[in-house]
Amino acid sequence: MTVDICSVNIGAQSYEIHIGEGLLESAGALLKPTLNRPWTVIVTDRHVDAAQGPRLEYGLGAAGVAFEKIVLEPGEAAKSMQGLTDLVERLIALGVERNDTILAFGGGVIGDLAGFAAAIVKRGCAFAQIPTTLLAQVDSSVGGKTAVNSTHGKNLIGAFHQPKIVISDVAALATLPARELKAGYAEVVKYGALGDEPFFAWLENRGADVLAGDATARRVAVKRACETKAEIVAADEREHGVRALLNLGHTFGHALEAAQGYSGGLLHGEAVSVGMMLAFDFSVAMKGCPPADAERLRAHLKATGLPSTLADAARGGEFAADALLSAMLQDKKVEQGALTLILVRRLGEAYIEKAVDPSTIVEFLKSAGAR
Ligand code: NAD
Ligand code: GLY
Repeated sequence: MTVDICSVNIGAQSYEIHIGEGLLESAGALLKPTLNRPWTVIVTDRHVDAAQGPRLEYGLGAAGVAFEKIVLEPGEAAKSMQGLTDLVERLIALGVERNDTILAFGGGVIGDLAGFAAAIVKRGCAFAQIPTTLLAQVDSSVGGKTAVNSTHGKNLIGAFHQPKIVISDVAALATLPARELKAGYAEVVKYGALGDEPFFAWLENRGADVLAGDATARRVAVKRACETKAEIVAADEREHGVRALLNLGHTFGHALEAAQGYSGGLLHGEAVSVGMMLAFDFSVAMKGCPPADAERLRAHLKATGLPSTLADAARGGEFAADALLSAMLQDKKVEQGALTLILVRRLGEAYIEKAVDPSTIVEFLKSAGAR
């Protein structure tokens, strides 16, 4: 079995990301050095538990690690203050101690929610990320952002809390529904679009293999994404600068998700896909990005079957430009009331644009099909 290891180098909180096929069966052995006692709590959701739970449980048992399990209902709705309160109370009731490590086993929803619970139970216990979606393997399990949603917007309540270890078993993706896989692929494309044109070109060639289940292509894609993210997080853990580039497509995307009330209409990765395309089109319209670069992104998203327009995202409905702008103004990058956007000079070169005039956003959103 080939296993790649990426390091996230952030001083005393540094940790490793293990990427390979079949890692769940050896998860206990990988986790054991990070555990204070041979006991843990798996936090997961019903789909993941049914599809991949036995593999992780076998892996823990094989290393003599006892466990309790909390199985939540799947879906973004779990990432709420109510969901957090319930989870924290259940962890405390199970007897979690400050030096214990809890396992976030699932997609980005479980990682963000269980990670945030770990950040606050007993003023902070340890946790490990065992991501089971493509999105979580390439993005949300790495870097220590944990959060729940507010009624005002995505991820507005949270903490930076780094995991002790990330175990990414690409074999777990075998049971991921095709739509979820594709949505996660948008976050893979993001790395090429924001700073790595050669990786984007690789995806143009091999992206179909990543989606079709080629284990080597998946491992290469996850590794490249994790290396890029690890480098950015090491340079700017708390997002005072360069880490914001990882939000390419997210300010528009989060607004689309908020406008739909996290109802499951649009998956997070799908919102990022449309948001990324909007960021490119805005960069062409307002900032001189070459139109051919936006067309290259559009062609790849379309070839992949990802949504790329407001009409795709609205699925027969429509978005109000003013409502989208209000949601964008709740973005965590807003400074003194002014919007910051991640825009592109060209494909593979994103930058941070501060103090974007809101009226230009409304005008642009209307030109893109909002009312
Ligand atoms: P998700 O966690 O909702 O998982 C998607 C669906 O797939 C769920 O129904 C889940 O039960 C199911 N599933 C997961 N793994 C499976 C498997 N192996 N087999 C079968 N079914 C499986 O969604 P997601 O796309 O992984 O995560 C989205 C969340 O991640 C959003 O809330 C987003 O805000 C967050 N996010 C966080 C960061 C970060 O840095 N913390 C980065 C990106 C996204
Ligand atoms: N997903 C963006 C970040 O981790 O910064």
